[in-house]
Amino acid sequence: MISDQGIIYRVKHKRNCMAGMDVLIVGGGGREHALAIGLSQSESVSTVHASPGNAGTSMVGLNHGISSTDIDGLVSLAVDLDVALVVVGPESPLVEGLADRLRAKEIPCFGPHSEGAKLEGSKLHAKRVMKSLGIPTGDFIVVYDEGDVQSSLDSFKPPWVVKRDVLAGGKGVTVTSKREDAEEALCEAVESDGFALLEQHLSGEEASVLVVMDESGYVLLPASQDHKRVDDGDRGPNTGGMGAYAPAPVATPAVMRRVTEEIVEPMHHHLGNGDTPYRGCLYVGLMIDRDGSPSVVEFNVRLGDPEAQVTIPLIASDLGLTLLAAAEGSLARAEVEFHDLNAATVVLASEGYPGTPATDRPVSGWDACIEEGQVRAFTHLAGAVIGEDGNLHSSGGRVLSATGIAPTLGEAVESSYQIIGSIELEGSHYRSDIGFRALSR
Ligand code: GLY
Repeated sequence: MISDQGIIYRVKHKRNCMAGMDVLIVGGGGREHALAIGLSQSESVSTVHASPGNAGTSMVGLNHGISSTDIDGLVSLAVDLDVALVVVGPESPLVEGLADRLRAKEIPCFGPHSEGAKLEGSKLHAKRVMKSLGIPTGDFIVVYDEGDVQSSLDSFKPPWVVKRDVLAGGKGVTVTSKREDAEEALCEAVESDGFALLEQHLSGEEASVLVVMDESGYVLLPASQDHKRVDDGDRGPNTGGMGAYAPAPVATPAVMRRVTEEIVEPMHHHLGNGDTPYRGCLYVGLMIDRDGSPSVVEFNVRLGDPEAQVTIPLIASDLGLTLLAAAEGSLARAEVEFHDLNAATVVLASEGYPGTPATDRPVSGWDACIEEGQVRAFTHLAGAVIGEDGNLHSSGGRVLSATGIAPTLGEAVESSYQIIGSIELEGSHYRSDIGFRALSR
């Protein structure tokens, strides 16, 4: 039964508890709301701060007005608040050196230093690291000159994968079987950035493995699967992610063993041995072929969004202690346990997304929740703010996601859709097939 008697996460809110630590979350999407809920439910945490946060984080903590790109402002905020831990959601402040600046002030930060963040900031750097360590990944060519475009395209079979070497929020990648489109993407990237990557197309099924890591050890969170295209059946343009579920059955125990041995172990050795060790999340974006062989599509240096919304609720142990341990370099001593449950999340997007989204429209029904035995469902808010009228309004492309947690994936998906069906936002859209690959296995 759907209830509107308040939201599950609000019940757990303990803003006034004095026993634990104060934590600052940087960012303002659904991932940061999932972090805020998980941290507010941690015994180790007393107050959750978020900057800039969103309507969801304001319900479990305190929002601050500093943007996630204002590095000076965020460092000052962390110092003023005297927080014991900063957890960085998005990649851009990490690439810009936020973690380095915080550690210089002896503030533990969950998120790597700028050198580590180059794994996401530069696709070419990531490819070179993978090749030097023998990590399975597609072949690639660097195209520096428009005169080399045709011969480079001849080197790979279609579909062609063209990547710009910049942070582009998922929009710097073109995958196309039309030669003229690949040519145009390569020429544009060469013109604007000086070079482009042309990569071998990998086939199979995608999965995301989020690895919490420091120099002392690592912990693999349950593998998840994102749905990056806007329309059902993985059609239409790419988005930041239209939904996800975990655990993803494509990542069988045998696949996870290979991921650990062939990818995570060498990366941990590489990242743990530098002058400044990597402390945070290594997001391993995988393609798993029909034989169960994993290859790396990309590394990111943060939790995924919407992958965080389906993996954080599966962590049974104290999230605050786990993230603090990684930030301090003592993860090997932390005990991290997981619920034997499934999670699914369905993103509700604004009209126009992933193009220009229509914003400032009222959202109703978002506070519905389900709590029936082991089945729970509720919303993670993202591009949503509380307006002057006291009601929720859309403010971005991905407005919220409905997350279900249940003993089976089918129940998790069903409860997410029950919640999403009770929400009204003019012109909004969502995918109706989240979890289809796993559910049809
Ligand atoms: N969901 C894809 C990402 O977070 O990069």
